[in-house]
Amino acid sequence: MTTFDLRTSIAEALERSRDRSTLLTDAVDDDELVRQHSKLMSPLVWDLAHIGNQEELWLVRDVGGREPVRQDIDELYDAFQHPRAERPALPLLNPTEARAYVREVRDKVFDVLDRTPLEGRDLVDNGFAFGMIVQHEQQHDETMLATHQLRKGAPVLHAPNPPAAPAERLPAEVFVPSGPFEMGTTIEPWALDNERPAHPVHVDSYWIDTTPVSNGHYLAFMDAGGYDDPRWWSERGWAYRNEAKLVAPRFWQRDGDRWVRTRFGVVEPIPVDEPVVHVCFFEAEAYAAWAGKRLPTEPEWEKAARFDPATGRSRRYPWGDEDPTAEHANLGQRHLRPAPVGAYPAGQSPLGVRQLIGDVWEWLDSDFQPYPGFKAFPYKEYSEVFFGGDYKMLRGGSFGTDKAAVRGTFRNWDHPIRRQIFAGFRCARDHRPG
Ligand SMILES: [Fe+2]
Repeated sequence: MTTFDLRTSIAEALERSRDRSTLLTDAVDDDELVRQHSKLMSPLVWDLAHIGNQEELWLVRDVGGREPVRQDIDELYDAFQHPRAERPALPLLNPTEARAYVREVRDKVFDVLDRTPLEGRDLVDNGFAFGMIVQHEQQHDETMLATHQLRKGAPVLHAPNPPAAPAERLPAEVFVPSGPFEMGTTIEPWALDNERPAHPVHVDSYWIDTTPVSNGHYLAFMDAGGYDDPRWWSERGWAYRNEAKLVAPRFWQRDGDRWVRTRFGVVEPIPVDEPVVHVCFFEAEAYAAWAGKRLPTEPEWEKAARFDPATGRSRRYPWGDEDPTAEHANLGQRHLRPAPVGAYPAGQSPLGVRQLIGDVWEWLDSDFQPYPGFKAFPYKEYSEVFFGGDYKMLRGGSFGTDKAAVRGTFRNWDHPIRRQIFAGFRCARDHRPG
């Protein structure tokens, strides 16, 4: 890519992320921007100014070497200084100030982008710092989308429905043969530190579900008494199920003799052919045990998503090396729900596994650990401080994840009790010859 093309693609990615932040924050009035919709989340106005503050720290001050715009607010928007529950009580910028602040920072960033050589320093090679800030804003946009899902009141977000699944019979599972594959990446320019470096991993043969688990299948688990049977739950999972009184995915409620759900303010019947979403790791684990299966591990997920048995290579995405389009995957908040299971045939992996990218994040039975040869970059707080914590891995992105913020190698992690995120799962099982 020429430097001109790289600058143009960075500018486009910055604009796309800002359009989305603007849509998510302009959709509600100022009173709703400063309110905390759930103890789990920040006020939307905190996310907005925090996006601007991170952009200022990295691109204006570090990459650009410019004077600070608002050094006095750094502490307020440092996510490590203030847990989410505390943030509404802070002397935050009001909505008008926050909007003016992010605009001022962005104007300076476009100037920095024009004048900075995009090489010669690890932080700027191939536009890395800009890519990191684009991903940061998109990650907060997905968090803000989750805040919208938690918000009470009439719907304010609207989008067309995703494509239907083609009428074809898919096998329930795909077989993945034993052998090594290349996991992680050394060459992906905007890959974050925890995705690096590329390294070989041996994976024993296994079966993996062709699609994420649907609401219909999940309802069968519920109807079979799955939530009331400790046999299917891990010890921690059962304790959490009891403490939180789990009986169904989050945002589901009984309506007479059926279940309905609330989705961005709309109450609707449960679509049985859509991937289940808003379940925690423990619910996913219990379903898998009930189904006689288990959750995939992180190497199993990545091998299913990237390994091409014809060439022995790992691809950037299941469909190949080209960036995602609307034909490949349900990404970028283009739709406000996952697509039915079996959709996006053009996005399937060489082995025939579907919907690995987009629709729902997938819970995996792996903890967050560094790859061999990991180096923290550009700061320890991105990944390193989380290694070995109480987290489970999530892969593939959701309908609320932008294409800049997910890849075949992208790693996400969260506490196993989290349910407000757009997470579902698929199952796997060991291959027992004979
Ligand atoms: Fe952040």
